[in-house]
Amino acid sequence: MDRAHWNAAYCAGDRVSWFEAAPEASLRMIARAGLVPGRAIDVGGGTSALAGRLRGMGWEVTVLDISTTALDLAQERLGAGASQIAWVAGDITRWRAAVPFDLWHDRAVFHFLTTPEDRLAYANGLRAGLRPGGAAVIATFAEDGPERCSGLPVRRYAPEDLLSALGAGLRLEASERFVHVTPGGGEQRFQISLLRREKEQ
Ligand SMILES: C[S@@+](CC[C@H](N)C(=O)[O-])C[C@H]1O[C@@H](n2cnc3c(N)ncnc32)[C@H](O)[C@@H]1O
Repeated sequence: MDRAHWNAAYCAGDRVSWFEAAPEASLRMIARAGLVPGRAIDVGGGTSALAGRLRGMGWEVTVLDISTTALDLAQERLGAGASQIAWVAGDITRWRAAVPFDLWHDRAVFHFLTTPEDRLAYANGLRAGLRPGGAAVIATFAEDGPERCSGLPVRRYAPEDLLSALGAGLRLEASERFVHVTPGGGEQRFQISLLRREKEQ
């Protein structure tokens, strides 16, 4: 993964293809998880409004992103509220949580991992970074979604494929399909899944 690529992409500000004014599908799926607000991480959160929305709901939020430009922009937009969120510059295929989270959210990050090694590293990080009983809400391009994003190839998923890519110890509880309309008016088909980390026996 390439920090320079992502920093350059964010020079487009709100014109980035993944921009959404409100993270409605994510919030809907997070509500379905039925968790009491605790510790949440938005993996590859970029400049998404989700962190601020979760913070407002009482979550203790960490945003991890490889792009320092995105993290700077996100903090600028949140103003004083930015100090209530932890901002981490890192690569999710290498970074490990010190303490597991209750909620792991990823919109349009895992689908960029096109090698088995990177997917395995992510899956291991997810297992270590999510407490038993916690929920992962992961949105990727759907099986009939775009084949590329931000000039990079992606891997597309049906919810069941996502579950098998992330390995044992997770249960698929719910999924939805939705269409994201890019700032340029293009339509992108997504799936969003709610995966529960199973309790250890
Ligand atoms: C398509 S954007 C989605 C951003 C955000 N989740 C949203 O919905 O607005 C992908 C994001 O993942 C970040 N990213 C890409 N590869 C990453 C990696 N290996 N580790 C952490 N962040 C990464 C990018 O910098 C970018 O912010």
